[in-house]
Formats: sequence, structure tokens, C-alpha cells
Amino acid sequence: MRDQLASPGEERARVLGSARRYFRQRMQLGFDHIYKSPPSQSDLAYKEKLIRELYQRIKDCSRCPLHSTRNHFVFGEGSSNARIMFIGEAPGRDEDLQGRPFVGRSGKLLTKMLEAINLRRADVFIGNVLKCRPPQNRDPRPEEISLCEPHLHAQLAIIQPRLICTLGRIAVQDLLQTTAPLRKLRGQLHDYQGIKLIATYHPAALLRNPSLKRGAWEDLLFLRQEHDRLVE
Ligand code: URA
Repeated sequence: MRDQLASPGEERARVLGSARRYFRQRMQLGFDHIYKSPPSQSDLAYKEKLIRELYQRIKDCSRCPLHSTRNHFVFGEGSSNARIMFIGEAPGRDEDLQGRPFVGRSGKLLTKMLEAINLRRADVFIGNVLKCRPPQNRDPRPEEISLCEPHLHAQLAIIQPRLICTLGRIAVQDLLQTTAPLRKLRGQLHDYQGIKLIATYHPAALLRNPSLKRGAWEDLLFLRQEHDRLVE
């Protein structure tokens, strides 16, 4: 996270640490190159090819124990050329059964949230920090996150969204490498490796606690405003 209290030395150590972690994880995953010529922002066919290749490479992942309890690996879905990427926590029961992200009750609410700001699921990319369901929907464990993270990093490297919207505490804390609570992270524009990032509530939290919906609506309007700035 761009921690306002971090000294320049701490900030440098944080950036170097995350770069080291990124390259080490890519090597562990069998990548023998960083994309030599990264896709340009609008190169849809090339990005689709890279996304298909990535899917083939990781769909049978067995890096963490969650592979032995899953029904499906949930890669994520949407446009390979999306300007906005929504990132949740981990597949739930319905997602695990169908192999698709956000298709249960939370997913239906997420679809409505998108529609409320004139976005369709097909326009964006929807993914998760973890690609496999934790048993009983328990919180992801740190070691599961660090083993699964390279998959998300690879998706981000290919899609190159201009804006990320994290859903819930786990995704924002992971991407920004912070332990700050979600309430402190909402309502501001963060930077994730040059990509703008906005944090909002997880739809499941909105279902449990409808009084959070007002704040979620403010987050969505903020997201739409930043989206419109991109196309100006
Ligand atoms: N919750 C998540 O975080 N992700 C999903 O895909 C579904 C529910």
C-alpha cells in the first residue's frame, strides 16, 4: 500500500519485495519469460490468446491443498480487454459447482451493481484472489493467497485494466499489501502498480448488512466517475 506514513526507504523495500515475490512466483509457475512484447492496451485478439493459454496452463493447478476439495477451478470471466477488473475473495459454493465467478446470491447482486452504473458483466473482467473454494467458505489463508497470487498477477499483466475495483477486505488488503481495515481504504483512489484501484464492500457483506448499501452506492458512483475519466 502507499502507506502515507511509510518512509522512502520502507516504500523502496516494499516495491522491491513485491517485485521479487512476483518474479519468483512466475518462475515457480513455469513461466520462462515475462511477456516479451506486452499486448498493447487494445490488442484484443492477442490478449484473448494469452488468456486462453494462461487458462490451459493453470486450470489443473494443485499448488495448494484447496485443489483436493474443489469441484471446479474458477479462472474468472469477462473481456480480456476490460478497462475495469472486479476482484473478489474466492469462489463460494455456487461458483465452485459451476466453475464461474460470482454466480450465486452475491453474484446476482454484483451484476445489479454493475448495471446500476451502466456496465455489463461482458464489458468487465470478474475474478478472485483465490481460484478455488475454501471449505465452508472460510477466509483464505495467507499461504493459499501467496500460492494463488501469481495467477491473478498473470491475469492483470495480460488484461492490463486501467481500473481495479476490489470487493471486500481480502482483495484490497492483498493487492495493496496492507492490514488497514476496509473502512479506511474506501473512498479514495489507490495505486496498484500503476493501475487505479477503488475498494468497496463485498456483495455478501451488503446482503448481510443492507445498511452498507448507501456507502457501496457512493463507491460505485466514484468508480463510474473514474471510468469516465479514462475515456475522456
Ligand atoms: N464471493 C467471492 O468473493 N467470489 C465469488 O466468485 C463468489 C462469491
